[in-house]
Amino acid sequence: MRSRRFASRDRRELHREPLVSPFPELGLVAADGPNDPAPELVVEDGVVARMDGRVASEFDVIDRFVVAHGLDLEAAAEAMALDDGELARMLVDVDVPRAELVRLARGLTPAKLARVIGLLDPVELMLALKKLRARRAPSNQAHVTNLKESPALLAADAAEAARRGFAEIETTVGVARYAPLNAIALLVGSQTGRPGVMTQCAVEERRNLELAIRGLVTYAETLSVYGTEPVFVDGDDTPWSKAFLGAAYASRGVKVRFTSGTGSEALMGYAQGLSMLYLEARCLVVVRAAGSQGVQNGSISCVALVLSVPGGTRAILGENVLAAWLDLEVASGNDAIASHSEIRKTAKLMGQFLPGTDFVTSGYSVMPRGDNTFGGGNFDADDLDEWLTVQRDWQVDAGIEPVAEDEVVRVRERAARAVQAVFEELGLPPVGDDEVAAATTGYDSSEMPDRDRAADVEAADDLLARGVSGLDVALALDRRGFDEVAEAVLSMQRQRVSADYLQTAAVIDADGLVHSAVNDPNLYTGPGTGYRLEGERWQLLQSLPQVVAPAELVGGVPAGEPVVTERDEAAGKGDDPAEVVVAVGPAFADAIRQTIADLDHRDVLAAVCDGVRAGGATPRLVRIRRTADVAFIAHDGARLSGSGVALGIQSKGTAVIHRADLEPLDNLELFGMSPLYSLESYRAMGRNAAGYALGHRVGPVPTELDNYARAKLIVKTTLLHAREIQAVLPGAEPVELELAVPVASSQA
Ligand code: 5AD
Ligand code: CA
Repeated sequence: MRSRRFASRDRRELHREPLVSPFPELGLVAADGPNDPAPELVVEDGVVARMDGRVASEFDVIDRFVVAHGLDLEAAAEAMALDDGELARMLVDVDVPRAELVRLARGLTPAKLARVIGLLDPVELMLALKKLRARRAPSNQAHVTNLKESPALLAADAAEAARRGFAEIETTVGVARYAPLNAIALLVGSQTGRPGVMTQCAVEERRNLELAIRGLVTYAETLSVYGTEPVFVDGDDTPWSKAFLGAAYASRGVKVRFTSGTGSEALMGYAQGLSMLYLEARCLVVVRAAGSQGVQNGSISCVALVLSVPGGTRAILGENVLAAWLDLEVASGNDAIASHSEIRKTAKLMGQFLPGTDFVTSGYSVMPRGDNTFGGGNFDADDLDEWLTVQRDWQVDAGIEPVAEDEVVRVRERAARAVQAVFEELGLPPVGDDEVAAATTGYDSSEMPDRDRAADVEAADDLLARGVSGLDVALALDRRGFDEVAEAVLSMQRQRVSADYLQTAAVIDADGLVHSAVNDPNLYTGPGTGYRLEGERWQLLQSLPQVVAPAELVGGVPAGEPVVTERDEAAGKGDDPAEVVVAVGPAFADAIRQTIADLDHRDVLAAVCDGVRAGGATPRLVRIRRTADVAFIAHDGARLSGSGVALGIQSKGTAVIHRADLEPLDNLELFGMSPLYSLESYRAMGRNAAGYALGHRVGPVPTELDNYARAKLIVKTTLLHAREIQAVLPGAEPVELELAVPVASSQA
């Protein structure tokens, strides 16, 4: 038998992706795999004789690199002797400083590191990450690509990303030969948006290094490492070759970050039966041993595989923590699409978002994901307002700033113009005004005019052959009047010479000052310490463009002709058994003139009275002044009513039909969905009230239900209710009301 509820859930986005049970033989186990070795380190005469279940003669290439460069044997004697649980406690103990944990980590083997991290639950992992992050303040990295490799659009997107506060921007290519053009577009765009933003163009290693040496990019994170020897070898690499490449970048003043992450070994078929987290521990010890200041990890491109197994999200957070523990800068993933489900994606994100990491995503897709040639962004242009709102909700800085539309449009235009000028100056195929216009305000590359792609790639080859450098880009900008962009591009060349930004977790601010773990370290030691979102930055991150002052939601107190007049004497009890009192709240038709559904109070009263008359009864209007509570408004009205029945209406439109002999908080009918009521609804309420008054059988007024009414209108409700309460006169008698200007009956 098929349940329609199960069938409905089956159709949800979540069910497009498989969940699998653990299969350790293939490495499909997140952490604590049954075949993971027990932590072990035997040192004989200052030489490692055994590590994590293997004797030295059986060491593979990773083990050999680790024992040669990745273990501080002095720290090891002390660190390996510590109990796993003791180390785990130290990770979450705010009284154990980060520096002490970093020192001990240098003496721990991969199996020990993985095992200790495996003891922490998600909240403990978050606390550890908050404490172990290298730089004081978190930041973020952006992805900027598009399917047409349009230089104007790349520059505009890079400018917007920079203006929104991303500290790094990464691009890549669909067609390899585009690399120098995309690098230039990114360089020019980023420096237009905000000087100091670092850029990279992820391409094949040789070309990547060449772009860096030319100063067309300022950082690299394409150096992948893997946790088993066969996968490393498949990539034509060894830990030594990666270390050499890393040193080549650093020698030219280019920031380097390696890439690793759970799941890659299983994906490539050589997990050797080991758990994802253990293999990542091996990667991270290699990364540190290779001398990299940081790592991009958190499964990265393999995230969907890791999320298919139990504990996948926890293991990914665990690997981020592990990297931070090893004193590496962490760009913590959340870049590749992790799930079809928005709930699942966001839940996973919180592991990095709440504690804060050096780069909360290793690539936030600033453009719509259809243009993301990294394989789609996990979070993209359409998600920006959600990201900003969640930052505001948690009072957490996850590295993206709200920027007003006109300012975004301005920097996009300026960047597109700048790259247009650079292309012309460098003799590249022209960027048309139509391209500038579409890049400035368009949605994605489908709106971009087509370029002659053959001409572009030929020009790109020629550009490389001519040896064009970052300095040439700065000169071109300078010649064309883009002084401030020229200055910023030149300043990025200067940064390579001073090389301060090679320090761990470095980012560059708009004044060219480097912030890294050296001069701006994370010194979190418990509540009130470390980085907190407060002061000016908190003001900035809470001021989203769509935020309004509360009063704007309800407008000012209305002026103009009165809708009703109050008689001077107190309203008395009526004696007409066919009378229905229509009792309104203190502000009704006075300080408030419309219901929350924007119905004029005058029309509402007319409709109600019509309804009462149509039901065969006689309406009498009174104002209740002592309370704003709709139950008491209605009950007070009922006690004045000749029939004992009244309809009470609050100014925002909520209504109750009451009878004098009932308890105030009991009632005949409650109409709590004021945003949904039309004049027809109020007419029906009047008719029903008349029915009760005359003792007829009455069916409830049909009402609709909008489950989102609260989320939409609760603030407006609060403000309207506050105004009603301001109008309350404690202890005041009810007064008789008359419509100031008689309304024509709407019943023709
Ligand atoms: N391990 C190692 N390298 C990875 N990359 C992505 N995910 C991983 C991972 N889990 C690298 C690959 C890929 C690029 C986007 O980053 O080189 O092509
Ligand atoms: Ca990245």
